[in-house]
Amino acid sequence: MRVYVMTLFPEMVESTLHNSITGRAMDDGRLELCCVNIRDFSKDKNGRVDDYPFGGGAGMVIEADPVYDCYRYILDKTGPDCPVIALSPKGQTFSQTKAKELSTEDQMILLCGHYEGIDQRVLDRIVTDYISIGDYVLTGGELAACVLVDCISRLIPGVLGNQESAGSESFENDLLEYPQYTRPQEWNGERVPEILLSGNHRLIEEWRLEKSIERTRNLRPDMFRRALPGLKRSLSNRLKRKLLKPEENCDKLS
Ligand code: ADE
Repeated sequence: MRVYVMTLFPEMVESTLHNSITGRAMDDGRLELCCVNIRDFSKDKNGRVDDYPFGGGAGMVIEADPVYDCYRYILDKTGPDCPVIALSPKGQTFSQTKAKELSTEDQMILLCGHYEGIDQRVLDRIVTDYISIGDYVLTGGELAACVLVDCISRLIPGVLGNQESAGSESFENDLLEYPQYTRPQEWNGERVPEILLSGNHRLIEEWRLEKSIERTRNLRPDMFRRALPGLKRSLSNRLKRKLLKPEENCDKLS
């Protein structure tokens, strides 16, 4: 996957993503990150790309021209129909479902705003999607772009090794991940749950599912409500009786 990032702060994005799993994905050629500095398209001798907002108010607004020229420079490489995603608190909230959807694209352009925003006319012309990473305001879209790329790239086949596979983690099937333990077997007087040392894979799987259900029910009741219909469809009657509460197991809630 090739990701173009239009930004005034390319180092913020590059220095973050050239690490760990995303860094390895780039070394392996599974992820290509091309940060393009919007400032390089300024026609001002000092590289200025922003101006005062019409109508007054605090802060500066990024001008349409450098953003549009930067976009056309990238479009020359991608060809038409490349999605352009602007990171903005006004966007659709990012989710694992959206990450899965985007992980099937072979290229995309991310547009990072800064200061008070970008001239609306160029946004209306080029942006296909707005994405927010949550209901709070960052100083710019760069960290949000990093979140997107990190989350999407680990869903690209081959990016995670077997050891790191994306299968049984939080948000798969709307359940949080079960607790994990490693050596030593006893730490500060606390033992690892005995079942994990039993070697009985069927019982271990059942225990993990039980812990996932308990965790999700307690920590993310909203998510648990979404998970419940799937659990009721897929669990055997024995497990439904064992893992669900009677009121969750009745038909009215599904
Ligand atoms: N830019 C500023 N705040 C943001 C947010 N919450 N999500 C995405 N981009 C942003």
